[in-house]
This record gives sequence, C-alpha cells and structure tokens, in this order.
Amino acid sequence: MSNASIEIDRHRNSKKLSDQGRQYIAGGVVSLNRKVNPAIAFARAQGSRLYDVDGNQYLDYHAAFAPHLLGHNNPDINDAVRLAMDNDWSLMGSGTTTWEVRLAELMREVVPSLDLVQITNTGSEATAHAIRLSRAWTNREDIVLILGGYNGWHNDVARMVMPSIGQIGPRVSPGEYPLVTMSAGIPAATRRLMHVVNFNDIESVDYVMRRHPIACVLLEPVLQNVGVIPPHPGYLAGLRDLCDKYGALLAFDEVKTGFRSALGGYQSLCGVTPDLSVFGKAVANGYPLGVIGGRRDVMEQFCHDDQTKRVLIAGTYNAHPFNSAAAIKTIEILQDPAVYETLEATSARLQTGLESLFRRHGITASVSRIGSAFCVYFCDHIPIDYHDLLAHHDFSLDQRYRLALINHGVYHFPSPCKQGSISLAHTNDDIDETLQLTEQAIRTL
Ligand SMILES: Cc1ncc(COP(=O)(O)O)c(C=O)c1O
Repeated sequence: MSNASIEIDRHRNSKKLSDQGRQYIAGGVVSLNRKVNPAIAFARAQGSRLYDVDGNQYLDYHAAFAPHLLGHNNPDINDAVRLAMDNDWSLMGSGTTTWEVRLAELMREVVPSLDLVQITNTGSEATAHAIRLSRAWTNREDIVLILGGYNGWHNDVARMVMPSIGQIGPRVSPGEYPLVTMSAGIPAATRRLMHVVNFNDIESVDYVMRRHPIACVLLEPVLQNVGVIPPHPGYLAGLRDLCDKYGALLAFDEVKTGFRSALGGYQSLCGVTPDLSVFGKAVANGYPLGVIGGRRDVMEQFCHDDQTKRVLIAGTYNAHPFNSAAAIKTIEILQDPAVYETLEATSARLQTGLESLFRRHGITASVSRIGSAFCVYFCDHIPIDYHDLLAHHDFSLDQRYRLALINHGVYHFPSPCKQGSISLAHTNDDIDETLQLTEQAIRTL
C-alpha cells in the first residue's frame, strides 16, 4: 500500500452484500450510525478478532460501539445464555422472574447510587425513562444536553453529535448553542425544550438554568461519543451543586462509561452521586440490555399510588431472560478485581506503545484513555470540549489513519474521533501485534 485509501479488492464480497442489502433495507443498514466507508460486512467475531465475508481478519478496537468488554463470544457468557435455555427460561411475560431480581440486586451491589432500578432493552429506552422521570418529578419540561454527546435516538435527545462550526457558531460561554437535530420529524415543541451547552462549561449550565425551568441535566460524565474527553476537576461536582440549587435532577448517562471506566461506573471514580444513572452496552457484554436506576424517591414514581403521578415503565422484552443471563454473568465476572487489573495493564500497554510510536514518527498526537476506552487525537493536547476538538484535531489525518489501520488488519470505526475499546480478550501479544501493524500503517500515511 502506498497510500491510505481503502483497498477495494479486499472488500469485494462486502460490497456485494451491502449492494444486496440496499434492495431490501432502507439505506442498507439497520442503524444509521453503522453507515461508513468502507462498508465492511463481518461474518463472525471471536475474542479480540473480527472476520469479514472476504476472509480478512482484524484486531478489533470498535467492539460494536463498545459493549464487548469481555471480548466477542465470551465462552462464559455464551454458557450462561445456553444454561438459561436449558433451564427453560423463557419470556414468560407475566410476573417477577428470578433473573430480573438477581440482575437488579447485582446492579445495586456494584453501583451504590442505584436504590432502585428498572431494566430495558437499550440505552435509548433508559435515557428516555430518565428524562420522563425527571419531568414528572420536577414538574418541568426543559432539559440540558451536552454538545458532542449522544444519549440515544429518541426525540428528546437526537441532536447532531458532530455538527459543523457553521451550524453551531463559535464558542459561547456563558450561553447555549442552536439546536441541530439528527433527525427529521422531531416536533418543534420538543426541540424548544432541549438546551445544548459545551462540556466542561459550568457557567453555561448556570446561564440556562437561570432562564429555563430545567427538569434534568443529562450527560455522559466522560464525553465518549467524540473520543474520550474527561471532565475537568470540579466540573461534575459543580453540576451537582447547580442541580441542587435550581431543583433539577442530575442524570449520568453511563451507557459508555458504565463498566469500562470501573465496575461502579465513572461515578465511582469522580465521587459525584447523580440522582439517576443509565447503563447499557457493556452491562450485558453485547446482549441488548439497558438499566435506569437511582434515588428511591425518584424511581418510586414508576409505582406511584396516585395514577396521575405514575410514570409508565413497560416493554414486552424488558429483562428478557437471555439478555439478563448475559448481564448477570458479565457482572459476576467483572466482580473479580483481577479482571480490571488485567484490563488496565493491557490498555496501558497499548496507550504507551501508541504514544511512543507517534513520538518516533514525529506525529503530533495525544492518546486519551480512561480504563479500556481510548482515543487518539491528532493535536498536542486532549480536547476539553467540542469546539477545542473542531479547532485543533486533524480530522483528515484521523480518517486516513483509520483507513490505513483497517488495510493492515486493525479495525477502528472508520470515522474520526470514534472511541476505541479494548477488551479482556485482548492479550499482550494482541497489543504488540497491534502496535507493529500500526507502525506499518503509519508508514503509509
Ligand atoms: C452515551 C450513550 N448513551 C445512550 C446510547 C444509546 O444506547 P442504545 O444504542 O443501546 O440505544 C448510546 C449509544 O451509543 C451512548 O453512547
């Protein structure tokens, strides 16, 4: 390879399948977030590796947008799901089940702020519940969201994750940004309730709270949909104080940080207790499951005696037995401290290896990492917010870097600033091989 354009010949069957898919599937993909170039069709995945329909294999750092913390097709998780089948666990669809009680108990055990939980199928459902609970609790409707964040696909949160500077304008602080939605069909009344401010900008949250009746501030405690942007010291505590001062709820979206930062979520590291928390992704290591939980008095609105104050929780597939079995097993595995020690050692090995590679090749880059989530920013510092990212990150180099890695058998999502995810299945040999392949890829840039 003399340059980092994608090798067409290596993806012939992928192309054929995606052409075929477009005949039957609107747009050819079942989640718009999966629409990228190259449109590689994968056939199977095991541990740290992906295999595509053309017979290529890749060391995987995408992890299907992060859930596979233990690696793909972890044998213990698969056994737990098989056991659920063998034990005749089914979607009974009536009454309490042993698995949902066990899962709820485990969630409470590992995340102490969860006095009560509810179980959904996805992170989006769980964030929708967090917002509705907040509105019912506060009797207010407006919400604060973060620029560069993602909290799911539903109307209340579907703003553009990476709008252009032309769409949002230069940094304003204190102040808020024009809403750029990610979807048509969102009612104007809903759009008016969404207030978007920069991450790490406490003054702007105060500004919005002084002007609007805010029900909740919903945010990823680490901005992980534009890489890995950590909160400034005091930022999350400052949000906690503002929410208390103005009577709003603080809701942490830990769908990505959940179990990748730590078993207790990022809240266990930052020492700030939110009113509500949302988990998903790594909770069930790739099986579809979300969790909403938090303060007892707020969560009890799901079972309020007064029907006019009751918040609806419903879902045919909530706490599906196979997903629940996967989640229970995932948490049980993660409860062994050796798992996080291994994950940290492997992740640090990759980080220091990448840093030394970039240094050796004279490439200006900063590797941000919290636990097993990381991102390479092609600039001399880790961005503090979305405007900093837009102003300093070399997007074109990032795109070429990702394509070159794919050509060399290292899979990162081929779109700038997407978080990388390391799993327990990644061995030191995998990391060393990744670093060798990365060096080869860098030489083609
Ligand atoms: C931080 C965050 N919240 C919520 C969601 C939505 O989760 P799901 O795709 O399971 O609906 C995502 C998905 O990427 C996410 O990254």
